[in-house]
Amino acid sequence: MTVSNTSHVCLIVTGGIAAYKAPDLVRRLREAGCEVKVVMTRAAQAFVRPLTFQAVSGQPVHTDLLDPAAEAAMGHIELARWADVVVVAPASADFLARLTAGFAEDLASALCLATTAPVLVAPAMNHRMWMHPATQHNLSTLVSRGVHCVGPDAGAQACGETGPGRLVEPDQILSAVRALRPGAETPGALAGVHVLMTAGPTYEPIDPVRVLTNRSSGKMGYAVARAACAAGARVTLVSGPTALAAPENLRVVSVVTAAEMYAAVMAEVANAEIFIATAAVADYTLEAPADHKVKKHTETLTLTLRPTQDILAAVAARPMPPFTVGFAAETQHLLEYARAKLTGKGLDMVAANLVGQPGTGFDAEENELQVVWLGGEQALARAPKAGLAHALITLIAERYRARG
Ligand code: CTP
Repeated sequence: MTVSNTSHVCLIVTGGIAAYKAPDLVRRLREAGCEVKVVMTRAAQAFVRPLTFQAVSGQPVHTDLLDPAAEAAMGHIELARWADVVVVAPASADFLARLTAGFAEDLASALCLATTAPVLVAPAMNHRMWMHPATQHNLSTLVSRGVHCVGPDAGAQACGETGPGRLVEPDQILSAVRALRPGAETPGALAGVHVLMTAGPTYEPIDPVRVLTNRSSGKMGYAVARAACAAGARVTLVSGPTALAAPENLRVVSVVTAAEMYAAVMAEVANAEIFIATAAVADYTLEAPADHKVKKHTETLTLTLRPTQDILAAVAARPMPPFTVGFAAETQHLLEYARAKLTGKGLDMVAANLVGQPGTGFDAEENELQVVWLGGEQALARAPKAGLAHALITLIAERYRARG
């Protein structure tokens, strides 16, 4: 599939080991029909030579803000006007910080300030740098300004550690570019709306090797996140540990415990217009997790638990809450419990499903939902989770618009 025969992609490569993957991205973009001009920061040139990009892009590579070869010596303005999409891949922590602050002392950052084209960042860095509150804050500021973000992936890192911070695969960047190209279809039910979501289970540590968790796979939440993206929303997905690949075109904040999920949601919620809580958050956590592995000395073992904070209720109780959607997993009295949750937590909508039945609910590929709101309800018939997520997002968009 081609992106467009006339798409002009300006690719900014910043300094990081993942820069070695960028020439392949250029090749893939060109195969997809894009014309690609590459801008490199000084740090990027320490990892890959400009000549490599010149060879794969078939264009001169731009490295200097003051470029005597550019018409009127204003390379950043020329490139800013030329680009249909500006892609920053890999986007280092330092570059994200400079973009947030609005610096313009080099070609790459000046170009991002000067362009009116959509800007897509694909972060790549050490996982601790990625999880640092400064980086997370910068990203959320950029996203709230309309910058698009893809990734990062989690996994083994070049530094030998493991965690979120790997550059996503070129295919994912390509799909994100495709969605941003001029004339791209925006299905639009949630165009421009910032949707904050939670998904997956949480892990509550018992000791360094054991956790309390539940059987949530995150599949339904990830499907809802994809459907919201497809409806044009900017999505921030706060995800507990899952085995799922990060969906394209949205920002994933990876967390482990209920307390981390609470903190991540509270850091984002002021910018969100819709909050959808699909996560199966632990209701209780250990009063005092052991510092060392618990040995089996005794016949019985007693764990003392204390309640976690209810993220959904806390969001709904804010002075200016977003349109707030909760999930309810029940084994009986579905509608009755869903309505109790709606009014009890002061929500705008509850999507309830029966669990404990074969073939639906946790880890299943299909599901069915009963959706309730004040003054209405709708059953969404059993379907694969992707289709069901689409139907749910359509309903959420309708009710969100109706609320005004
Ligand atoms: N939820 C949350 N934070 C928690 C617990 C739950 O955000 N600490 C959210 C879930 O993401 C879900 C909804 O609340 O959207 C589930 O409601 P809840 O009342 O917690 O459901 P149950 O735990 O099943 O409640 P109960 O045991 O009372 O049925």
